[in-house]
Amino acid sequence: MNRDKSPPGLGYSDAVIEHFQNPRHVGKIEHADGVGRIINPVCGDVTELYLRIKSGIVEEARFQSLGCAVTIASASVFLDKIKGAAISELLAGEDEGVVCRLIELIEKELGELPAQKLHCPPATVEAFFQALEQNADKERDGELASRLKRLGLLVKEYYGRGKEKKGT
Ligand code: FES
Repeated sequence: MNRDKSPPGLGYSDAVIEHFQNPRHVGKIEHADGVGRIINPVCGDVTELYLRIKSGIVEEARFQSLGCAVTIASASVFLDKIKGAAISELLAGEDEGVVCRLIELIEKELGELPAQKLHCPPATVEAFFQALEQNADKERDGELASRLKRLGLLVKEYYGRGKEKKGT
């Protein structure tokens, strides 16, 4: 499933290696309240994220990925962080601040990433917004669904960061 052939140690932190080798929350949730499926626009890797939501709390979260070590580690740490959290708190604040904060949730935990891997963490956050949007649609909360769509568009701006760093 993993296409990353880099041996551990080539720019990966211990946290990336640990979460890649022992990913948490892997799998699928049957009859999930929301599902997000993102094809990374930079490399084509796929991330699926499943949520069970109860009374506004992320009760259960799982993921599947046809992605690299950083994508798997990103989803693993992100779901660790959001499981049990109130959605209202995760989405509190201005849209740009929310996107930045959620990506930082991952990157603070994983440490500095190689520039060519900076496009990986945003896919987890975009999949999360997509899963929440699907749930908002089911709940007929059009205002929240529209906001989540906007948040999803803002995440897309983060996919180009590696290129900026490499100056390409
Ligand atoms: Fe594709 Fe990491 S290389 S998501």
